[in-house]
Amino acid sequence: MTTPAWPRLDGIAYGGDYNPEQWPREVWDEDVRLMREAGVTMVSIGIFSWGLLEVREGEFDFAWLDDIIALLHANGIAVDLGTPTASPPAWFFAQYPDARAVTKDGVPLGFGARGMVSHSAPEYRTAIDRIAGALAERYGDHPAVVLWHIHNEYGVPVGEDFSPHSVRAWRRWLQDKYGSIAGLNAAWGTAFWGQHYEEWDHVGAPAIAPSTINPAQKLDWARFTDEMLRECFRIEKAAIRAHASQPITTNFMANQHHGVDLWAWADEVDIVSDDHYLWAADVEGEIGLAIAADLSRSVGDGKPWILMEHSTSAVNWQPRNVAKRPGEMARNSLSHFGRGADGILFFQWRAGRSGAEKFHSAMLPHAGTESRVFREVVDLGGKLGRLAEVQGSRVEADVAVLWDFESFWAQDLEWRPSEDVSHDERIRAFYERLWRDDITVDFALPGHDLSRYRLVVVPSQYLLTARDAANLTAYVAQGGTLVVSFFSAVVDENDAVHPGGYGAVLAEALGVRVEEHLPLREGHVTGIRVDDQVFAADVWQEDLVVTTADVRATYTAGPAEGRPAVTRNVHGEGVGWYISTRPDADGLRAIMREVYADAGVDVPATPAGVETIVRRGTDADYLIAINHDTREVSLTASGTDLLTQADVRDTLVLAGGDVAVVRLAHTAPRGDR
Ligand code: GAL
Repeated sequence: MTTPAWPRLDGIAYGGDYNPEQWPREVWDEDVRLMREAGVTMVSIGIFSWGLLEVREGEFDFAWLDDIIALLHANGIAVDLGTPTASPPAWFFAQYPDARAVTKDGVPLGFGARGMVSHSAPEYRTAIDRIAGALAERYGDHPAVVLWHIHNEYGVPVGEDFSPHSVRAWRRWLQDKYGSIAGLNAAWGTAFWGQHYEEWDHVGAPAIAPSTINPAQKLDWARFTDEMLRECFRIEKAAIRAHASQPITTNFMANQHHGVDLWAWADEVDIVSDDHYLWAADVEGEIGLAIAADLSRSVGDGKPWILMEHSTSAVNWQPRNVAKRPGEMARNSLSHFGRGADGILFFQWRAGRSGAEKFHSAMLPHAGTESRVFREVVDLGGKLGRLAEVQGSRVEADVAVLWDFESFWAQDLEWRPSEDVSHDERIRAFYERLWRDDITVDFALPGHDLSRYRLVVVPSQYLLTARDAANLTAYVAQGGTLVVSFFSAVVDENDAVHPGGYGAVLAEALGVRVEEHLPLREGHVTGIRVDDQVFAADVWQEDLVVTTADVRATYTAGPAEGRPAVTRNVHGEGVGWYISTRPDADGLRAIMREVYADAGVDVPATPAGVETIVRRGTDADYLIAINHDTREVSLTASGTDLLTQADVRDTLVLAGGDVAVVRLAHTAPRGDR
């Protein structure tokens, strides 16, 4: 059986999670009628339906699912069929109480929410194999089913599991990884605090302990937890593949949950799909959205991906659930689309009356069809319907920002030099700079072939292996521009400090040595001088020893006053920059202007608050322009606006809050090299 690269669908997929089982049969007819009105082409069903599909162990009731799939098919709506394994039924836990996940403090999780299961429990693994296989056997060749959606958001709400099943699996995993207990002792540095082991059975999970637990043990625990989830995914994938050839996905949570290594997961799925929700507390949520979208595209090696869930308006699970304002949903959707999403779906089609998510927005809100949200949903369906020719085109970036889940896991452990240092915060700061400069970014791993990028940004990558550091050094030697933020390259894969000291593995590329970290007190704002300008800087300084680098900024205050703060090093054909503090936004802008000049990266003259992205197709390039500002702006472009069919001659005028997708008359200049 060959698996198609994309669901059998025309154009950009549009739709959402659909839960017909929550509604009486007569509502289904109205649903499909309104879906057609809205231009819905695909819905995800069955994701939380296990208890209604396998009513008792091994006893299936597919009648209602047969009916709804037939109804959808008759109305030309394709199905993304979920396996319901994120939420096993009540009978499962009654029968297998030991298959519940256990918290760090030893409490088995209770039923009544979702996701309480131990992914290591053999009974769970048998059960997911059975239900996934049964679904695939029944619907594997159904013409409506174009995609399989395994599980839901692996890693939430349950990732870590301290149950006896999990601890047994953990010991097996460690034995496979290390081969000998001596290997484990060496990797974990167990000579420290008397943690030496002689027996595998004595190695426990990093649950509650009197003080900080061995960080190498915790790092391995994060890897193990991720791997257990992936093993479950593989069981389901194999069960489906035995009967079905449609592509298989599972919905990620790029940039909202760091517990699973999306680079590894992307190798397992046929199509990357992602869920993204705005954080109400982030007043510029469109930047976080762009990060998630670029990460989703990047982990899938640039291939088109599916935005599996986002919201039409407010969610229900944040402290304050802020509703989207007119036009915001379309801007969000078009930004995902511009960044490579060829499917725009929502949680959920119809707002639920009962249950914990009844205050969550939907395509069809509680207010019904006479509502702004529904009108905008219909309008968006129309817009996406006009973008079919863009499907399959690709985004090209000249700049990569490193994103390594292992480094997240390591840096998030306890007893670090300063709790004010965050990998996430540095990624956002550098990305935000690039976003404001309207420069398109890919994310990458430090071990990737980076030669296609003019510039690579390393935002506080605490864990960097010697091998990956050598890759970055070679990238510079061969002509790349590398910019490295403080607290990078500190430890190796076992959370052990690199021989030679902090950053030693990048010393050749950067031309500096870090003698001492100088974390600052909370609220202590110091300064750096860049040429004749002084900018604020906080959180961190370092005692830097310059070997071959030039000093580009010095500290004007604080423990390293008068000493180098920012350096630039020519190494081989390229340049390595080091920023040893957290400059404010203006300071970072000044430094990055110089970095761009080294890298040959042009800053387009895009008006503030506007993002543009180019998707390159085989026959044409497409400019996606989104105006987040309330003022009208003008951009330089020529071609046809696919949303309005208007001719664009030299100038694209975008009203406040508006979006445009222009088939460009000429190949876009960006990316030409
Ligand atoms: C997602 C989840 C959905 C729904 C949604 C609400 O994380 O996959 O099932 O709960 O959140 O925002």
